[in-house]
Amino acid sequence: MMKKKEQGVWEMEEKILELASWIRNSKRTVLLTGAGMSTESGIPDFRSQTGLWAKYDPAYVSSTDALRDHYDLFRDFYTLRIDDVTNFIPHEGYHILTKMQSAGMITSIATQNVDGFHALSGSQDVLELHGSLRTVSCHDCGNNATHQDFTDKKTCQHCSGKLRPDIVLFGEMLPQDVWQKAMSHIEKSDLVIVIGTSLQVYPVNQLPSLTRGKTVLINREDANHTHLFDLTIHGSAREVLLKLSSVLFEESKA
Ligand code: APR
Repeated sequence: MMKKKEQGVWEMEEKILELASWIRNSKRTVLLTGAGMSTESGIPDFRSQTGLWAKYDPAYVSSTDALRDHYDLFRDFYTLRIDDVTNFIPHEGYHILTKMQSAGMITSIATQNVDGFHALSGSQDVLELHGSLRTVSCHDCGNNATHQDFTDKKTCQHCSGKLRPDIVLFGEMLPQDVWQKAMSHIEKSDLVIVIGTSLQVYPVNQLPSLTRGKTVLINREDANHTHLFDLTIHGSAREVLLKLSSVLFEESKA
């Protein structure tokens, strides 16, 4: 394997070949994804120039304070988000990850995304660390409600409480069972592949450092701690996965 410092001069193809050999030699590969995995499906990420936080202040639309003090802004924002995840579909990159999982090349998928695209593209046992936009419930009594109830500005039919999507808001804890599972899968892993995240949000941004194996970042731009990764591939998730798939599947047929 070429020394880390020489990587800068590696062509994309050489990096993909190296990644493919790491995947083939790994017994436990964990995938960790972020919003950059869904931008090529049409869903904006958060911190890119065209990201949601360039237009909205998360404190006003995506926090427990927003739910309590700015409910109309909160509801309007998440009505738009729900529209996005129901109007767009997972791109080929998602289906390649599902194929890699069924081929045993990926043993666990953890995501910060709330669009449900990994499961929608057939991936199994996806650890949704920040919850999901696909379900809605009452913030006060926890009873389930529908997207329609939420977007129609209804209150909870049981307790008249505020309805909200089942996502993790700023100021809330991650679902502990999912978090514990993600930590233990990464602690036991040989390889962690991180795709489409700026790694700016705690505690998920700590996860890659928990492995004793190798770490790979696939991202359009540098993320937090990029220098700590054993391999960094700057590119779009869909394109890199298409190239990787041709190495992993087509060439192995030849
Ligand atoms: N291919 C590869 N990388 C991409 C692509 C793409 N098609 N599109 C965007 N990116 C990269 C961006 O360059 C950026 O570095 O993906 C990263 C997305 O980072 P963020 O927008 O910060 O999203 P994420 O890291 O998932 O955010 C984490 O923050 O706002 C909260 O709860 C929200 O789960 C979210 C968390």
